[in-house]
Amino acid sequence: MTHPIIKDLNTRYTAKKYDATKRISADDIQVIKEALRLSASSINSQPWKFIVLESDDAKQRFHDTFANKHQFNQPHAKEASHTILLAYDPKFTKEKYAKRVDAEVTSGHLPEDRYNMMLDGAYGFAEANTDENGFNGNWTKAQVYIALGNLLHTLARLGIDSTPMEGVDPELIGSIFEKELAGHVCEVALAIGYHQDGEDYNHGLPKARMHMDDVIEVL
Ligand SMILES: Cc1cc2nc3c(=O)[nH]c(=O)nc-3n(C[C@H](O)[C@H](O)[C@H](O)COP(=O)(O)O)c2cc1C
Repeated sequence: MTHPIIKDLNTRYTAKKYDATKRISADDIQVIKEALRLSASSINSQPWKFIVLESDDAKQRFHDTFANKHQFNQPHAKEASHTILLAYDPKFTKEKYAKRVDAEVTSGHLPEDRYNMMLDGAYGFAEANTDENGFNGNWTKAQVYIALGNLLHTLARLGIDSTPMEGVDPELIGSIFEKELAGHVCEVALAIGYHQDGEDYNHGLPKARMHMDDVIEVL
């Protein structure tokens, strides 16, 4: 298949070794941030926070979060151009949702007279996924993974390499980035940058996916 989307998706891959001398341009970082912001989410909940680690100090702090586990991902903390922490809100309340509905109205997307209908009606989706302690992190985390997928595709189109990392330590990230996370939980991060030529064993390998008929059925 020769479509440019398929070409980009075949070219993107999980980088295993970054060239520490190469940095993503400020223009591309702007595109990446805006693509993240534009990610879709159930009921437009946007129950997330994305933290872009760019400075040496931020990278050192992220490096420190690998003290206890998943050290195989640790080199990316300093060698990749940037890392993005993708964090979900474990207790996404109706009060927080009201801010999103505010944006629905101020943006012109929702007529003002439908404000309460959206706030009360749509939030039912969140309520249906909320337990007796107010925890709805399974649902909000699912939204964060939509942003991750959107980000992976955006990076593929920009020709920027990346490494999704569930191999992170949510507890240490939670304490070392406590202030910035503001109650959000980070269980997945994305290193981004440019691979080290000749030293990344994963670069240039064929895609290893299930056969189309095994995963997709058209009725
Ligand atoms: C949610 C998620 C978590 C992942 N965690 C890691 C990780 O911690 N370290 C790593 O090297 N690769 C990680 N990967 C990369 C996958 O192994 C990789 O995407 C998969 O093998 C497909 O290969 P490709 O990305 O090169 O196409 C992760 C991928 C995803 C989507």
